[in-house]
Amino acid sequence: MNTKGSAMKKVTKAVFPVAGLGTRFLPATKANPKEMLPIIDKPLIQYAVEEAIDAGITDLIFIIGRNKRAIPDHFDMAYELENELERNGKTELLKIVQNIIPKHVNCIYIRQAQALGLGHAVRIARPVVNDEPFAVLLADDLLDGNVPVMKQMVDAYDYYRCSLLGVQNVPREQTKSYGIVATTPVNEQIEQVSGIVEKPKPEDAPSTLGVVGRYILTPRIFHHLDNVKPGAGGEIQLTDGISALLAEEQILAYRYDGVRYDCGSKAGYMEATVRLGLRHPEVGADFKKLLEKIVNEEKFK
Ligand code: G1P
Repeated sequence: MNTKGSAMKKVTKAVFPVAGLGTRFLPATKANPKEMLPIIDKPLIQYAVEEAIDAGITDLIFIIGRNKRAIPDHFDMAYELENELERNGKTELLKIVQNIIPKHVNCIYIRQAQALGLGHAVRIARPVVNDEPFAVLLADDLLDGNVPVMKQMVDAYDYYRCSLLGVQNVPREQTKSYGIVATTPVNEQIEQVSGIVEKPKPEDAPSTLGVVGRYILTPRIFHHLDNVKPGAGGEIQLTDGISALLAEEQILAYRYDGVRYDCGSKAGYMEATVRLGLRHPEVGADFKKLLEKIVNEEKFK
């Protein structure tokens, strides 16, 4: 257990690295950030932001790049639109637009001039995070839990007081898409991490337990990120910083309760749209009928 002063602090800050180029969704992401791709009627980044806010986080730190102006715009006031909705008596829509970010939550934007990797993006948040534990959420991993996954992890952090990595089992042939941990089980939900490697080949992977885009990290990670050399894909990898942190501090892998949609891939994005669409309060019932019709028609071709 980490007994340093910073470990007693609550997790109130979350980092959203959103400077990536989104090449897997080109041309849709040529001028529009991938994090702004909608699942039904909300952009991906808003799902991650809501998850963080539900976990009690009050400072949202976005690491943005060029071409990402739509993200700050989305979380800002939209005077013209709001006036227009008000004038037309569209109060429900007005509320939806105005309440994206509750009043007690702050948005902070930092520009990452070069996309040098996830570890680099997280390191940039240091002056704002300071000496506090903090969350990292990757918006293209959409996590759908009855209890929001980051809330589960903050609760676990409040108990264990050490860095936590959200993990799930992945097919062995896919280990090269993930940070993979070596672990020993502590209980059903928690494993003690003894090693972590970024995007190993299936034959080199220490397990099939993959890190998904949810982390709670102690501020000591910044020290290690300062020293990390470019790793997998020539990028400064968060995984390599975590691996160095492991020599000093306990790190736990957390098997969250919930379903993950890999919205960084087209198939995962489409699955999220269908699954969440089926549950959508406004369109869910009609969408189900439509989907049944499509399935029937396709079957008989
Ligand atoms: C990043 C991390 C990787 C993690 C993954 C989860 O990779 O580097 O360790 O497993 O997110 O989605 P990316 O998918 O950005 O290449």
